[in-house]
Amino acid sequence: MSVKDREKWNRKYTEKPTLLETRPPSPMLVSHLHLIDGNCALDLACGSGRHTRFLVEKGFCVDAVDISSVALEQLSKTLSNNSVTLIEADLDSFTPQKDRYDLAVMTNYLDRPLITRTAQRLKHGAFFFVETYMVHPQNEKKDSNPDFLLNAGELKTFFGQNFSVIAYEEFWNEAYELYKMRKQSVIVKKN
Ligand SMILES: C[S@@+](CC[C@H](N)C(=O)[O-])C[C@H]1O[C@@H](n2cnc3c(N)ncnc32)[C@H](O)[C@@H]1O
Repeated sequence: MSVKDREKWNRKYTEKPTLLETRPPSPMLVSHLHLIDGNCALDLACGSGRHTRFLVEKGFCVDAVDISSVALEQLSKTLSNNSVTLIEADLDSFTPQKDRYDLAVMTNYLDRPLITRTAQRLKHGAFFFVETYMVHPQNEKKDSNPDFLLNAGELKTFFGQNFSVIAYEEFWNEAYELYKMRKQSVIVKKN
C-alpha cells in the first residue's frame, strides 16, 4: 500500500472534516441509472461514499475501494445494511475481479491505467461512469498536478471499440467545492 497516499488522505480528511460531508451524486450517473441491468457495482476511490450510498439506496450491492481508513470509517457509519463491502486498498495496484461488475464508478480521481484495467474486466453489457477534473485556463487551483487532469475531450476517446459512449459532457464543478474547476464526465457501455 502506498503509505504516503494513505497518510496524505487521512491527514486531509482529519484536518478538514467538511470533505467527508454528505454530497449529492453526480447528475449524469443519476440520469442514466435506469439503463443499467444488474445490481453489482464498484466504486473506485469512493471517499466518504456519495456514490456508494446512492447506489445502495437504488438496490445495488457495492464494493467500495479507497486508501483512506478515515474515509472508509466515516462511510461505514452511514450504512444501514450489509450491501457494501469496504475495501481498503491502493488503487495503483488494485485489479477489479473479472466479469463481476454491472457498473463501475470513478469520480474526482484519475488513474488512467486503472480505467483500462477496470474496463477490460467489466461484464459485457456493463456501464462505466468516469467524472473528474480537466485542464482549463480558468481553473482556480493552479498547482494541480497535470498528470491528474484530463485533456479536453479525453474521456470521449479513451475507451476502445468494445465500448459505446452513451453520454459525455464538460462543465464547471459543483458550487460546494473549494475551487472552481472544469470537469469532464462520460458514461460508456461495454458491447
Ligand atoms: C477527491 S476524493 C473523491 C471521493 C469520491 N469519489 C467523490 O467523488 O466524492 C479522492 C479519493 O481518492 C482516494 N485515493 C487517493 N489515492 C488513492 C490510492 N492510491 N488508492 C486508493 N484510493 C486513493 C482518497 O483517499 C480520496 O478518498
